[in-house]
Amino acid sequence: MNKIIDGKAIAQQIKDECREKVAQLKDKGNKFTLAVVLVGSDPASTVYVKNKKKACEYIGIDSLSYELPEESSEEELLKLVEELNTNEKVTGILVQLPLPKHIDEDKIISAIDPNKDVDCFHPMNIGNLSIGRPGFLPCTPAGIIELLKRSDIEIAGKECVVIGRSNIVGKPMALLLLRENATITIAHSKTKDLANVTKRADILIVAVGRPKMITAEYVKEDAVVIDVGIHRDDNGKLCGDVDFMSVAPLCSAITPVPGGVGPMTIAMLLSNCIV
Ligand code: GUN
Repeated sequence: MNKIIDGKAIAQQIKDECREKVAQLKDKGNKFTLAVVLVGSDPASTVYVKNKKKACEYIGIDSLSYELPEESSEEELLKLVEELNTNEKVTGILVQLPLPKHIDEDKIISAIDPNKDVDCFHPMNIGNLSIGRPGFLPCTPAGIIELLKRSDIEIAGKECVVIGRSNIVGKPMALLLLRENATITIAHSKTKDLANVTKRADILIVAVGRPKMITAEYVKEDAVVIDVGIHRDDNGKLCGDVDFMSVAPLCSAITPVPGGVGPMTIAMLLSNCIV
């Protein structure tokens, strides 16, 4: 096993598998179209959306782009979502988050047809996931499970600590790890003596949203460390929530930033788009 988990290479494998599946399904007459909705011009979101559309093109599915101005109203966005729900050509809908503050994210997510919810954000899809029903998988957490499996890291029976309890990463991550028979702890901003908790982890998944917060003191020797964060440090260089230089020497495997979890989110989105 490589100590540095190459998310870019693993994501490429998955994209190639998707491409192959699309070619086979096309022969049977199945076609897929992802509608991508961006409200405003947040620079990070603009890059993510561009990469998602490029990835659709790579695997051979269509994408439609909807770019709405920052000041668009909640009603306008709801109307667009409703149009996309009823458009038979559209098989997947993705509304890039975060949305501007005056728009209720939960309301928009809940308005997306659950059968087109390729992000797996809809309460029905998260509910299905939590009771073990088949369906869409949340992209970033599913990408992390694939990274572990394809790096031959066993999950069953392991102590897993997830730092962060967001609806996009922390909570669905815990559900997926549980499904793989891990023992799970979710730590968060109110957790007492965080290092004491994280040092129990055989697999530590970090989604705190603070640059280089997790240093060697938080990590058990030979742990596997998965870094979900992405930031720019003081020198303008990309970095994660984990202080890579401090943690890498003591763990058994670690994801870099960039090139770790990030590319996997898009790969798993594509895989949701072709079911
Ligand atoms: N914002 C940050 N991550 C994501 C994601 O996976 N999907 C969407 N739609 N928005 C995001």
